[in-house]
Amino acid sequence: MTPPSSSPTYLHGFSGSEQQRLMTQARLLESRIFGQIDYGGARRLLEVGSGVGAQTEILLRRFPELHVTGVDLSETQLATARENLARTPWCSTQLRRGVPVLGA
Ligand SMILES: C[S@@+](CC[C@H](N)C(=O)[O-])C[C@H]1O[C@@H](n2cnc3c(N)ncnc32)[C@H](O)[C@@H]1O
Repeated sequence: MTPPSSSPTYLHGFSGSEQQRLMTQARLLESRIFGQIDYGGARRLLEVGSGVGAQTEILLRRFPELHVTGVDLSETQLATARENLARTPWCSTQLRRGVPVLGA
């Protein structure tokens, strides 16, 4: 049996190309994933493994009243997510108001 790793990692890694792949994948699959999902009645959502924020961005565009808390084991991913969300108009509004869109 393999002992638990003291420094957790992620199968696909955190390279720039992998982060870009996550953004592209999220956009390509958006209608397929979210076509059947309605969070219109929800106010708070915990996004575990929020990565670079690709799904967070889509969630906040589709459900502007939603408060999303993203968690990820990688500070690299979280830093990229903060950058991505800060330059996305419907997300940066929430960030400017000081709402903790992301938290580790
Ligand atoms: C498929 S990727 C991210 C996809 C994400 N929806 C996005 O839009 O970028 C999966 C993420 O889960 C994170 N992860 C894997 N295991 C985790 C765990 N046990 N706790 C928190 N995050 C985890 C990885 O670091 C990685 O960023």
